[in-house]
Amino acid sequence: MKRLLSRIFHQISSRQLLANLYRKLVIEWFTLFQGNIILWIYTFVYPNIKLGQGINCWGRVIIRLNDSSKLTIGENAHIVSDSIRAGITLFSQVKITAFFDSKISIGNNVGLNGTTISCRTTHINIDDGTMIAPNVIIVDSDFHSLWPAEERMWNPGFENDRGVNIGKNVWIGINCIVLKGVTIGDNSVIGAGSIVNRDIPANTMAAGNPAVVIKNLTDD
Ligand SMILES: CC(C)(COP(=O)(O)OP(=O)(O)OC[C@H]1O[C@@H](n2cnc3c(N)ncnc32)[C@H](O)[C@@H]1OP(=O)(O)O)[C@@H](O)C(=O)NCCC(=O)NCCS
Repeated sequence: MKRLLSRIFHQISSRQLLANLYRKLVIEWFTLFQGNIILWIYTFVYPNIKLGQGINCWGRVIIRLNDSSKLTIGENAHIVSDSIRAGITLFSQVKITAFFDSKISIGNNVGLNGTTISCRTTHINIDDGTMIAPNVIIVDSDFHSLWPAEERMWNPGFENDRGVNIGKNVWIGINCIVLKGVTIGDNSVIGAGSIVNRDIPANTMAAGNPAVVIKNLTDD
């Protein structure tokens, strides 16, 4: 008790108390409370959502699911969907959309931070332990056909949709885009700002536009 009082006194005298309260109450607890309540509400709104134990969500995640689609999020996912809580980017909301009969599966211990996952007609799998940095977009579709140009706006080009598989313990850096049909192998790292439109093998670091393998991580 004496130690607690002396700590509080020290914090008041060193003007740390308000800063600590702000960090704990506003940045941590309030956004965590808000996020977990919103996730819980989604489990009532959508019968096709399955959430594992121990998920923590900071801020207002957006989840949009079609009736025949499916979303699974495994245990202990760490979802940061709030610009104040996020340590890097200004816009950090997480948005997960599954159209038609598509399936999004997010494994155990996955970290999402301001990530957009949009699955139209196939699947997007993100395996255990993968970390996804802010402003990453993952899509299984181009949403429009390439040709003929005058039909592009209205032709959804469904036939070109391809599923995306992101392996275990992958790390995808800030501002990357993972396009349709891509598989990223286990333990690989995708450098910030990359556009991934071809498969990336396991245990490698890839970067660039389009992303190419820069080095094999097991060589270090
Ligand atoms: C441009 C796009 C539609 C082309 O799709 P596609 O016809 O399947 O093209 P491919 O994947 O066969 O790629 C053809 C070549 O262009 C390159 N390429 C395609 N998209 C690229 C991109 N975004 N950045 C860099 N290179 C790209 C590919 O590497 C490939 O090069 P290669 O022949 O040397 O291997 C697609 O890659 C894309 O960018 N999709 C996102 C569309 C979008 O933003 N939709 C939002 C809704 S409006």
